[in-house]
Formats: sequence, structure tokens, C-alpha cells
Amino acid sequence: MRVASVELQNLTKRYGSIAVVDDVSLRIEHGLLVCLLGPSGCGKTTTLRLIAGFVEPTAGEIRVGERLVSSPSHTVPPEQRNMSMIFQSYALWPHMTVTENIVYGLKLRKVDRDTMKKKLDAILSTTRLAPLADRYPGELSGGQQQRVALARALIVEPETLLLDEPLSNLDANLREEMRFEVRRLHDTYRYTTVYVTHDQSEAMTTADVIAVMNAGKIEQAGSPEEIYNRPRSEFVARFIGSSNVVKGKNLDDSRISFAGKPLRVIGAKLSAGGETAVSIRQHDIRISTVAPPQTENVVPATVVRQVFLGGSRDYMVEVADGEQLRVVTSAEESIAQGSAVYLHLPPEHCRALSR
Ligand SMILES: Nc1ncnc2c1ncn2[C@@H]1O[C@H](COP(=O)(O)OP(=O)(O)OP(=O)(O)O)[C@@H](O)[C@H]1O
Ligand SMILES: [Mg+2]
Repeated sequence: MRVASVELQNLTKRYGSIAVVDDVSLRIEHGLLVCLLGPSGCGKTTTLRLIAGFVEPTAGEIRVGERLVSSPSHTVPPEQRNMSMIFQSYALWPHMTVTENIVYGLKLRKVDRDTMKKKLDAILSTTRLAPLADRYPGELSGGQQQRVALARALIVEPETLLLDEPLSNLDANLREEMRFEVRRLHDTYRYTTVYVTHDQSEAMTTADVIAVMNAGKIEQAGSPEEIYNRPRSEFVARFIGSSNVVKGKNLDDSRISFAGKPLRVIGAKLSAGGETAVSIRQHDIRISTVAPPQTENVVPATVVRQVFLGGSRDYMVEVADGEQLRVVTSAEESIAQGSAVYLHLPPEHCRALSR
């Protein structure tokens, strides 16, 4: 099977004066699973509809392999793109049974009966829909309908699979199982997949590449590790890593002033006289009631509140200038509300953000 790479070049979609997708460039290599991850309204569905060909770009281009499929002057219709798309609202045919919905695409492609039966049985068992095969969509729960939509998209073995929040209506257990299922199917067939979600852990478990979107733009694209460990912007740091973001005046090329103390940071050379935002994750901050052996990157603070979460403890602490930070520690360590503490912010976890 030939697999396509998908490339977005300076892709823009405007509705009126608003750029819903704003100058997006992204190259998706053959056979990779890419997640578009971002908050509600950031332009994920619109990007997916542009790739599928349901929406025409205002500016920019989309290529599949060498083929130009979208530009403002020329759009290849969706049915000629060899893509399957699962819509956020599934769009099942209400007058067709589960089986009829699933095999519809194969019928259009005039696949012979034996092959159709074989593929149908396989996909019904994978998605555990066999007992529901003769029901109509109106007789199914939301989660079951979602599985029908998934089965219907996968059975045609598309070159490119476009998934718009495909698991959002499943219960927690099934959702986790289906994440691995989507990934397993992707690895089996090696189509190029674009997977839209606003759920960070869903993106982390399924994706080769995560593209974090904010207000129509891709803020950062990279492997899950890269995005998590080396966020480039304040938005990515906050959205992905459950990070604290603190700001301070640059003291020299590697230290900022934070809560009246110098804080050494990594990730960029700081410019003289400027101000820098720095991210540090909640579980990378050490908290203790006695002064730690280090003197560098230690600031005094007060515990504002603490919550016991079974496996961990969640602290809110306040530093000298009134700024509050969240700190997550192991569950054993219990420090009462109101206690004076020392925070150690290891320099290797204090990352200067460029935006
Ligand atoms: N046809 C349209 N006309 C005008 N505005 C639109 C149209 N379609 C989408 N929008 C606007 O574009 C923005 C992005 O919409 P989009 O559906 O791409 O967001 P999304 O990231 O998929 O959000 P969600 O997570 O809620 O599904 C929204 O502000 C939306 O209101
Ligand atoms: Mg959407």
C-alpha cells in the first residue's frame, strides 16, 4: 500500500476578518501519527477539514505526497483524496444498520463479497461491535456510535486517516483501551494519521508527533518527550506540563531575579536588561521545612494549602513577592498549612521560555 505524507504550507483559513487557521506549516512524514492538540476553538477541526478537502483555504497549500490537493484556486474534492475522516459528531447514517454503515465504503469501492465479509468480521471483533451488528445508530449509546464511526473509517484502509476527537464520548476505561487500539491499528496498516484532541494524555499515548495549537497557530511541534521536556512557549508549558511559569528580570546571561533571589535557568542565553519567563514543573520543585544543603536556587515560601491525593500531595505555596506556585510531592511528606518552607528549584529543571 502506498502511504502519503501530508504537508501544510502557510495554510490560512479566514472567516470574515478572523484567521481561524493562521499561517500553519506542518510536514507529516509517511506513516506517522500526528496529534493536533489544543484548547476548544483553537482551530483543530478546521485544520482537519482543510486536509480532508471539506473547506477551501484562504491562503496556503496542502500537498499529499507530491500532489497539490488544496490551494485557494484549486481543491481536489474529498472523495478523490483517499482519506477517511471521523467527524466530531460521527455522522452515521441513521437508516442503516451498524453493518451497513461499516461496509458502505467497501460497497462504493466494489469490493467482492468474500473480502467484504472477512474485513467486516475482523473490524467488528476489533471494535467489539459484533453483538450490535444489526442495530441502527438510534439504538446505540454515544460510545457505541463512536466505535461504529471508527470501524467505518478503518475498514477502507485509507492512505490518510483523519480523526476528530474520536474517543471523546467513550467512558474512561474504554477510552484508554481504544487509544492503544488506534495506535495498534495505525502500526498495523501504517497509514498517515492526523488525530485531533484536546486531551493531553491521549496525545502523549498515541502520537509520534504532537503539534500544539493555540488561536489558529501551531505553537510547537515535536515528539511527546520534546514537547513535555522542552516547551518553548508559556502556552505550551502551561497546557502540557502542568508547569509553573515565573517571570523575572535578567541578572546576567543565565540568572533571573525571582522572589528577591537569583534563579539560575537553562534553555537560553539571557539578554542583559530583559525579562524572562521560566517554566518549572510541579513535581520538580523540592519542598522542605529545613534549609537544604544547596544555597543556589533556594527560596523561602509559606504553605498556603495542601491536598492529599492518595498517591501524591499537592501544595500551593507563596513566595516573598506574593506569587503562588504549585508543588507536587510524594504522599508521605506532610507539611501543614501555614508552615514556613524552603523551595529548591533545581537549575536543570528551570527552563527559559522564548515566548
Ligand atoms: N463556518 C464557520 N464560520 C465562522 N466561524 C467558524 C466556522 N467554523 C469554525 N469557526 C470558528 O473557528 C474557530 C475554530 O473552530 P474549530 O471548530 O476549528 O475549533 P476546534 O479547535 O476544533 O474546537 P473544539 O475543541 O471545541 O472542537 C472557532 O472560534 C469557531 O467558532
Ligand atoms: Mg473541534
